[in-house]
Amino acid sequence: MSVSLVILAAGLGSRMNSDRPKVLHPVGGAPLLAHAMRAGDTLEPERVVVVAGHGAEAVAKAARAENPEVLIAHQAEQRGTAHAVAQARAALEGFGGDAVVLYGDTPFVSGETLTAMREARARHAVVVLGFEASDPGRYGRLVMAGDSLERIVEFKDASEDERAITLCNSGVVCADTSVLFELIDGVGDENAAGEFYLTDIVAIARQKGLSVGVVRCDEAETLGINTRAELAAAESAFQARKRAEALEDGVTLIAPETIFFSLDTFIGRDAVVGPNVVFGPGVTVESDAVIRAFCHLEGCHVSRGASVGPFARLRPDAYLAEHTHVGNFVEIKNANIDEGAKINHLTYIGDADVGERTNVGAGTITCNYDGVFKHRTVIGKDVFVGSNTMLVAPVRVGDEAMTGSGSVITADVEAGALALGRARQVVKPGLARSLMARLKARKAETKKSEG
Ligand code: UD1
Ligand code: CA
Repeated sequence: MSVSLVILAAGLGSRMNSDRPKVLHPVGGAPLLAHAMRAGDTLEPERVVVVAGHGAEAVAKAARAENPEVLIAHQAEQRGTAHAVAQARAALEGFGGDAVVLYGDTPFVSGETLTAMREARARHAVVVLGFEASDPGRYGRLVMAGDSLERIVEFKDASEDERAITLCNSGVVCADTSVLFELIDGVGDENAAGEFYLTDIVAIARQKGLSVGVVRCDEAETLGINTRAELAAAESAFQARKRAEALEDGVTLIAPETIFFSLDTFIGRDAVVGPNVVFGPGVTVESDAVIRAFCHLEGCHVSRGASVGPFARLRPDAYLAEHTHVGNFVEIKNANIDEGAKINHLTYIGDADVGERTNVGAGTITCNYDGVFKHRTVIGKDVFVGSNTMLVAPVRVGDEAMTGSGSVITADVEAGALALGRARQVVKPGLARSLMARLKARKAETKKSEG
């Protein structure tokens, strides 16, 4: 049976002490909302509805970046989780399958857990995801009668006895879509918070004689982010998981605890990553590539057998073909580096193409920006770019050409040519010695007149 997702993301998250909507704070370089959407993706949902309120425009933009087909429902006033789900009614019009409710601030629910909930739906009209909390705090408590869930009581409304329950509500719920909306219609706001609680659908379902089941998951999956401290803890949990996954996938991490990944980082088998490397969003590294210590990569691709760093920075749209070498203190942005090319020392290559086997000498700079526009530098194959060459773009250097060290290249260089763009050297025999002698004599004179 088909399934749709309703992701609640309207809250401000006042405890974050931020102007940014809570669900847009990042973990692993991606907004919390993107994590929740990805978790839900494992169910191959037919429709995905994000309920937005605070910062709705920004939330919608982030949601679309993750899934262009996402439907946005608006909740103008945050009147509780049941009220939030109710806003998705129009977006789910005509959809006949199950609905799974997720929270945008709960990033770690696993695909397996969601699948288990879908399976449990074969036995129950409503399925709630619960967990044994080491510190139940202010979570809603699950009141069980044997195997069946009777009701959920919010902390604020719970008695002493109910507060002693350690089985808590994660917030994730699965039910047939029309049943879910019917149950929500019965929810009122007579409670301590004066809100429409989604949790009330459990007692209402029981009154209607419907069965409600609980699927339990590990507490780590239900970690909800409400504060900066929880955000930091989530980041650390996320990094620990990504490191373990990379090792499992056959990647060598020399000092795993010093390597930072993004949600979408992909690293191939037998790649080696040295200490203190940061993978920003959008990085793929193929098998057998080596990323040495202290590199920062973002939005780039490193092909098989390439080597990067130490201390290199790859910025968005840097594409390194197979067996390329990018060495220390090199920055590359929006550039294609073809097979076997070498850019080993102290260089900036931006908005450029570097051909096969070309060698770029130390201190080379593509001067790509005139203060207003960006221009491209195109370097052919088997080129030798002399050290400290300034390539003032737009400029082209043909195949097998050379540039002399220290050249400022402002005009195209044809294939096979040597380009020299520097002042001719002048040598004056003996002048250094005589100049030095004169200077020393002057210094001695000054000392005498002072003393
Ligand atoms: C909720 C549950 C509680 C559970 C806890 C787990 C209810 C009534 N309580 O409490 O049982 O243990 O989550 O973390 O459901 N939201 C909206 N619109 C609203 C209200 C909330 O979109 O009007 C969104 C929030 O942005 C957030 C999510 O729903 O992503 C949860 O809301 P929150 O207020 O944090 O619920 P809790 O009080 O934590
Ligand atoms: Ca919460």
